[in-house]
Amino acid sequence: MSREIQFDQLSATHLQSIYRLAQQMAHSGDADELLQLILSELMEETGAEVGAFIYYDARNDRFEPRTIRTQNERDKSEIEFSYSVFQDILKNKEAVLTFDTRTDQKYSDKQSVIINKIYAILAFPLIINNQLYGILYFDSRRNRQSFNETSRQFLSLFSAIASLALEQVLKKRKIEKENVQLRRRLDDEIAIPEIIGQSEIMKKLFRLINKVAKTDASVIITGENGTGKELVARAIHDLSKRKDKPYIAQYIGNIPGTILESELFGYKKGAFTGADKDKIGLFEAVDGGTLFLDEVGDLNPDLQTKLLRVLENKEIMRLGENTVRHVDVRIIAATNKDLPAMVKEGTFREDLYYRLNVIGIKVPTLRERKTDIPLLVDYFLKKENPDHPLEISKEALRKIMSYDWPGNVRQLSNIIQRACILASDNIIREEDIQFDDLVGKKVDIHFGGTLEELKNRIIAERIKQFNGNKTRAAKSLNISLRSLQAKAKELGL
Ligand SMILES: Nc1ncnc2c1ncn2[C@@H]1O[C@H](COP(=O)(O)OP(=O)(O)OP(=O)(O)O)[C@@H](O)[C@H]1O
Ligand SMILES: [Mg+2]
Repeated sequence: MSREIQFDQLSATHLQSIYRLAQQMAHSGDADELLQLILSELMEETGAEVGAFIYYDARNDRFEPRTIRTQNERDKSEIEFSYSVFQDILKNKEAVLTFDTRTDQKYSDKQSVIINKIYAILAFPLIINNQLYGILYFDSRRNRQSFNETSRQFLSLFSAIASLALEQVLKKRKIEKENVQLRRRLDDEIAIPEIIGQSEIMKKLFRLINKVAKTDASVIITGENGTGKELVARAIHDLSKRKDKPYIAQYIGNIPGTILESELFGYKKGAFTGADKDKIGLFEAVDGGTLFLDEVGDLNPDLQTKLLRVLENKEIMRLGENTVRHVDVRIIAATNKDLPAMVKEGTFREDLYYRLNVIGIKVPTLRERKTDIPLLVDYFLKKENPDHPLEISKEALRKIMSYDWPGNVRQLSNIIQRACILASDNIIREEDIQFDDLVGKKVDIHFGGTLEELKNRIIAERIKQFNGNKTRAAKSLNISLRSLQAKAKELGL
């Protein structure tokens, strides 16, 4: 057959069909879908009895019929093909056309052709990147309908277009696959195993942590209670070049100034009453590493000035000593106070604020990333019972999802922990999720009775809450069943 294709016999319907298919192909992003489309259109157009896409697995030199279509829903598993046709196409990269196998010398004695009563064959190579990708195959069997010159012209034009379309689709799929892999690798690279979360806002946080960790800049971490500020501080240290040096966290909030100062800076023997020997402070202890100052907004003015000096000169002096000591410490601070407002008010030094806030990291609240909740729930369930984590019912999860979480991840962790205690079997149910004691529910501080009376009221309330189930009421109060039963008896419950 000549490679030159003549299209003089193509009718308007053929051209329309090609146009329609070309359009559909342009929109199809999936190779299998495209092949299905091609086959069904072509079978209709040519009146073939069997149509198939035969994939050529070049690595193993094997032909694999992938998509088979038959007229009248003939059983596809019965269909056998003439592999000698496929071999010819592989060898010559040209179409095979036999209008009548009985008179075609090439195929008249082929067993598969005879046994399967294949009467006429039209088969076209799909060539992609100069390689045989597969074969578009059509034949006519029992009904002995032959193909004609028009079908041949139509099919040859068509397979040329189909090859191009397929090439595009496959290229796109390859790129997409590569992109997914690259993106996954990127996600893996930025993920921080100790900090659970896959929401976009958390990915952004992880990216920032990774970047910040590569620098030696001071950082202020802000965010509501229980959002994970301390975890972030630790992650920055662990990912930084200081990771093999110490990391120390020091809580600042409401610790008396003198105690805090001696903690941070150390002292010389005799510096004050009770200083019976020299002591090094945290700045020296953490030398080369990272010092995390939690609740830095509570630092008193005197210590604010001293901290500023450390940041500016990298020098400290122990209490009661005149020697200046050099320290190399990275400071990460955290607060849930509004430091800029404190600066305006004059309660936090502006110069210290700017020294600390070289980089600001805001940790999102749990309600800003509710999609992470199921992941966190699983994580905390496993933490509670590593070998046999409890399951959680849909209703319980729904209750968790619709809550506002003012105490953020810490509150979620506490509530899951409690639910694991309350659960009567292996499943956490809706009633095991109780938000009451942590945040939100008011304690009746106007109660005028005795402590004993208050206890009795709580016990009675709790038994009612659990519909008389004393085991669970006792569990929820963290008292023994026996003492609850005794109390209940006393109260006539
Ligand atoms: N993303 C998270 N993945 C897993 N555990 C988390 C996450 N965020 C917080 N936690 C857990 O929640 C608890 C509170 O976290 P953390 O102490 O870091 O919060 P915080 O922001 O410092 O809170 P506070 O403002 O009260 O000091 C910890 O037990 C921590 O391990
Ligand atoms: Mg904290």
